Amino acid sequence: MTAERTISTIRDDLTIAISEVRTRYPNARSAIMPALYLAQDKYGTLDGTVYQAIAEILDVPEIYVFEVASFYTLYHREAVGRFHLQMCTNVSCMLLGAYDLLGHLEGRLGIKAGATTDDGRFSIRAVECIGACDRAPVMMVNEDYHNDLTRARVDALLDGLEEIDTILDDLEETISEGMS
Ligand code: FES
Repeated sequence: MTAERTISTIRDDLTIAISEVRTRYPNARSAIMPALYLAQDKYGTLDGTVYQAIAEILDVPEIYVFEVASFYTLYHREAVGRFHLQMCTNVSCMLLGAYDLLGHLEGRLGIKAGATTDDGRFSIRAVECIGACDRAPVMMVNEDYHNDLTRARVDALLDGLEEIDTILDDLEETISEGMS
């Protein structure tokens, strides 16, 4: 997730994948969203270098790429933790307790919305509607939706994520030991 990136390396890394995605859409502009996902998956965060490389690969103006990346909260323009918790606070979710849940999350993790825990495990963001209003209140954890949330469900979810985090840490340690 921390791979060095220049226009040239991004082109090397992603031209084939983005060109393949491009064939699924009637025009290049429609392929910007999946191209940004590919870049985010590769590098973790998106910046001007990424926008420029994607613009070159898709042959679209760079401003089109920037507009998409800056409009959707699903794209990370700054580093986020291993688990990116995006709590919707728009109308449907707000009416069903989103701000109470957000406060609960903040209390449990010891950070405010917009921040990342010191250990880099969790980031919290308050976001606008994420398109699942019929299952409000809703939060995304990375790319997954968690619906009909209550404090108890948030607690269970965080417990599960902490367990996953420990497993991932152990796995990384085992791999690193195996390589040394
Ligand atoms: S208002 Fe929360 S998902 Fe739409």
